[in-house]
Amino acid sequence: QSPESQSILEAHQWLAKLYHHLLRNSKEGKAAYQYLIDRGFTEETIKKYQIGFSPNSKDFVVTFLEKKGFHPQTMVKAGLLSANDHGEYTDRFRGRVIFPLRNHLGKTVAFAGRAMGEQEPKYLNSPETELFHKNRILYNFDLARASIRKQKTVVLFEGYVDVISADQAGVHNGVGTMGTSISTNQANLLKRYADKVIVCYDGDRPGVEAASKAAKLLKSVGCETFIARVPDGLDPDDFIQKHGGDRFQREVIETSDTYMSFMMSYLKRDYNLQIEGDRITYIEKILQEVAMLDRAVEREHYLNEIASEFEMSIDTLKEEIQRIRGQKP
Ligand code: GTP
Ligand code: MN
Ligand code: MN
Ligand code: MN
Ligand code: MN
Repeated sequence: QSPESQSILEAHQWLAKLYHHLLRNSKEGKAAYQYLIDRGFTEETIKKYQIGFSPNSKDFVVTFLEKKGFHPQTMVKAGLLSANDHGEYTDRFRGRVIFPLRNHLGKTVAFAGRAMGEQEPKYLNSPETELFHKNRILYNFDLARASIRKQKTVVLFEGYVDVISADQAGVHNGVGTMGTSISTNQANLLKRYADKVIVCYDGDRPGVEAASKAAKLLKSVGCETFIARVPDGLDPDDFIQKHGGDRFQREVIETSDTYMSFMMSYLKRDYNLQIEGDRITYIEKILQEVAMLDRAVEREHYLNEIASEFEMSIDTLKEEIQRIRGQKP
């Protein structure tokens, strides 16, 4: 590891401590602390995740890091400071609730700062650095790893708050992406640790859209993939706040759809099955998915379902599946 990376790593450990301290002990941090309490975070969770607060100051962090002897230009690279045209350094995170982003060894390597009001952006994330690659790191993987191993199952969320809230609700095997769509690298990582992945994205339209993409990727790297449905356009955290953790486990996690049954209803949204042309296109789309299934038993199961739903002969469907599979590279 380069001296620069070492320095960036150290700065993050110091700052995480400082931000957390300020949340709990400073006058300015009170509102941020209350914000978290109002959102349902417990004292224990705030400690466990070392959640913090960055003061609304131009140079609080500048001064702190300077005193500790860090090179300001390196701290700009680290995404902790900004530099303006006049060569002045300023704090990057200001007046935000701070979520430390830890690598898989549990070391903080980046931060996500959430605005407490309606300011944009809602989340300000650290930039990519040598230590922080957004499509290699999974949020909370360090803490969830033991539970993932034990249950052979991992739950994938969209948001940091969803991961934390689910943990509080008893779902300890949750991880999240860094506000980006899941990468092949991350999918492979999950595959190494878990037999089963439950995608639990937001229940709004973009969430369902993203869930179908994530599920396809996970399926393609060989994960047994399930999709949880959060009702009423809520996100997992909203649901937990509204209905509690028990209902979240029973009604969302434990009743998640299999990949195929999710795809079948997901694809239906795009077509009007009363119209013959749409119906045929829909069946073709579904057969594409069925053709990708590895197990013959599984393929047969869904073909039977499609055959009876659309009153088609299973032989015709099988023929079509053979044709599609024959084309596969
Ligand atoms: P809360 O509103 O605090 O409950 O967060 P959320 O996780 O529900 O946010 P949302 O569903 O809007 O977004 C999901 C994830 O996308 C967040 O956890 C972030 O990682 C990311 N994200 C959301 N808004 C922004 C943004 O303004 N900028 C960046 N860089 N990422 C964002
Ligand atoms: Mn528990
Ligand atoms: Mn969303
Ligand atoms: Mn959300
Ligand atoms: Mn949310």
